[in-house]
Amino acid sequence: MTVSEQTAQRVRQLREEILHHDYQYYVLDTPEIPDSEYDRLFRELQTLEAQHPELLTPESPTQRVGGMPVSVLAPVRHRMPMLSIETETDITPNGAWAFDARTRKKLGLDASDPPIEYAAELKFDGLAISLRYENGLLVQAATRGDGEVGEDVTQNIRTIRQIPLRLKGSTPEVLEVRGEVYMSRPDFERYNARQRELGKATLVNPRNGAAGSIRQLDSRLAAQRPLSFFVYGLGETKGWNVPATHGKLLDALKEFGFPVCAERTVGLGADSLIAFHQAVSAKRDSLPYDIDGVVYKVNSLDLQRELGFRTREPHWAVAHKFPAQEEMTVVENIEVQVGRTGAITPVARLKPVFVGGVTVTNATLHNQDEIDRKDVRIGDTVIVRRAGDVIPEVVSVILNRRPESSRPYSLLEAIHHVCPVCGSHAVRLPEEAAVRCTGELVCPAQRKQAILHFASRRAMDIEGLGEKLVDQLVDGNIVHTLADLYRLDVPRLSALERMAEKSAQNIVKALEKSKRPTLARFVYALGIRNVGEATAKDLARYFGALGNIAAADAAALQEVPDVGPVVAESIAQFFSESHNREIIAQLRDPEIGGIEIQEGQGSRSASAGRLSGQIFVLTGTLPTLKREEAKEMIEAAGGKVSGSVSSKTDYVVAGEEAGSKLAKAQELGVAVIDETALLQLLE
Ligand code: IVH
Repeated sequence: MTVSEQTAQRVRQLREEILHHDYQYYVLDTPEIPDSEYDRLFRELQTLEAQHPELLTPESPTQRVGGMPVSVLAPVRHRMPMLSIETETDITPNGAWAFDARTRKKLGLDASDPPIEYAAELKFDGLAISLRYENGLLVQAATRGDGEVGEDVTQNIRTIRQIPLRLKGSTPEVLEVRGEVYMSRPDFERYNARQRELGKATLVNPRNGAAGSIRQLDSRLAAQRPLSFFVYGLGETKGWNVPATHGKLLDALKEFGFPVCAERTVGLGADSLIAFHQAVSAKRDSLPYDIDGVVYKVNSLDLQRELGFRTREPHWAVAHKFPAQEEMTVVENIEVQVGRTGAITPVARLKPVFVGGVTVTNATLHNQDEIDRKDVRIGDTVIVRRAGDVIPEVVSVILNRRPESSRPYSLLEAIHHVCPVCGSHAVRLPEEAAVRCTGELVCPAQRKQAILHFASRRAMDIEGLGEKLVDQLVDGNIVHTLADLYRLDVPRLSALERMAEKSAQNIVKALEKSKRPTLARFVYALGIRNVGEATAKDLARYFGALGNIAAADAAALQEVPDVGPVVAESIAQFFSESHNREIIAQLRDPEIGGIEIQEGQGSRSASAGRLSGQIFVLTGTLPTLKREEAKEMIEAAGGKVSGSVSSKTDYVVAGEEAGSKLAKAQELGVAVIDETALLQLLE
């Protein structure tokens, strides 16, 4: 074998392998080799083809990346017309009866004749394509066009990894298949997210995405769109023994390496069609691609020929559609809703429209950024999407129907910068999409969430104050503010539905027990936006007392290690609201909440935290303090608690059964103290 023969053979071998792995990966979804290995094979082939351009062929997998742009898509006359399907007008399951009845009549069958065998499959919502293979190689791909003449889109179709460039197994002289190019929902979402990140145009829906990509003049652009394919029928064939039924035909096409949708059945009579229709309706929303219905086909190809077609539509198939998931309607108004976390979300009030099987009157607009991106305005005609139980959504605006008087919508302006529920200031913090109500503790919309957070284990740790009880307390108008919690007593609580006297007593006890929080816990419990446990501890350590934190402006707050501008802004904003200050005062009022926050000096003040900068290690069981309590007390005094002993450790606090840490301390000569000594240090 000469060198060039060897190279040619290697090129052929690489193509075989890559096409095989494409099929495993893109069609079967069961890759056999890691991506890195695939990339290596691919690069080797690219290199050889670059060195030997005479070996390059159109069915090489390297040609999937797209080629030179064309100026027009050339017309292609279909050797067999690409038919369309009649749509069953009755969209209830009864539509299947009507189709069956018509078909039986056309075949001259009466009630005593056996049922007709049907194939049922999905009606994919994409773009119809005809693929022509000669001697196993993909030679041409065309759109449907008017059914007689379509457009040559071979270059673009080659970029779709699910479409075989070469058939597997025996190869008929001519095999034309028809199917649907589509974009899956996850691919669509990913593609749009990426486009948004890049500030580029997004696709309106997967269907447009698929159709637009295939009709691109520049196949390199088409190559960047993630498209998929399902085969569902046949065109011209030569030198192939066509199977006897539609079901067997699809099986055979699968063997050639085409993706065939697994959601299909063959059954007898209208009953089987109705069962399929119902099963698919139920799972429509969980399919990873859009469908607009199901298709019923007479299974026997002989019977299909007997039934024939009129102009464009065969008599042997019908499309049974589902309710559309996208419809057009008008935005009559934009209103706002205040969510549990204080996010104020815009909602479009729509002219009622039947979409996704229900009448829709509202659609979420998410936030100001989304409104800006879609430029949705009051009075606009829009496309609304409702899929499954998902909240209906405005997909896009139909600009040429926009009333002249319309103006861009600003959420903050529309609500005059105040929360429509409680009247607190509404703000949009830098770097946040949401407009928020600042009335954290007073806004009824946020109250439940705020109370649950306040009571949670790492905050005030009020045992028994769970979601159900909070719902009862807020909905029953018993608790309006956090301070009201401490007004609860046993008679009040046991009057609630399903509340035993014993549980009521336990809750009152838990409330009582929560009254001496560390400053860090209390600050965390307030539920200030962007203030988690760590920040609350930092604030407590630095400022020592709640009054100091409340009095600090954003600049002073940023002096705290690890507090940046966004966090500082939320804290300052929180304490600037008089509602919030009032509730804190009530919580601390001996007549109402009676909370005594354990405050200290704070590392900021001149005398600094007593233990400022000192490093402690806790080991063993202390006689009275839990380890977490000791830690909080040390931290409140400006000290740090570390998990391991080193030469940097200032004190090891040892209790009962102290182990290796104690030994290490002795070895390094670190001071070892007990709980009593720790409490003295803290005093
Ligand atoms: S069969 C028998 N089967 O629906 C006539 N079409 O014609 C040939 N479509 O744009 C079409 N899913 O692309 C057939 N399972 C399916 C289909 C299907 C979607 C499309 C087809 C055409 C339209 C109506």
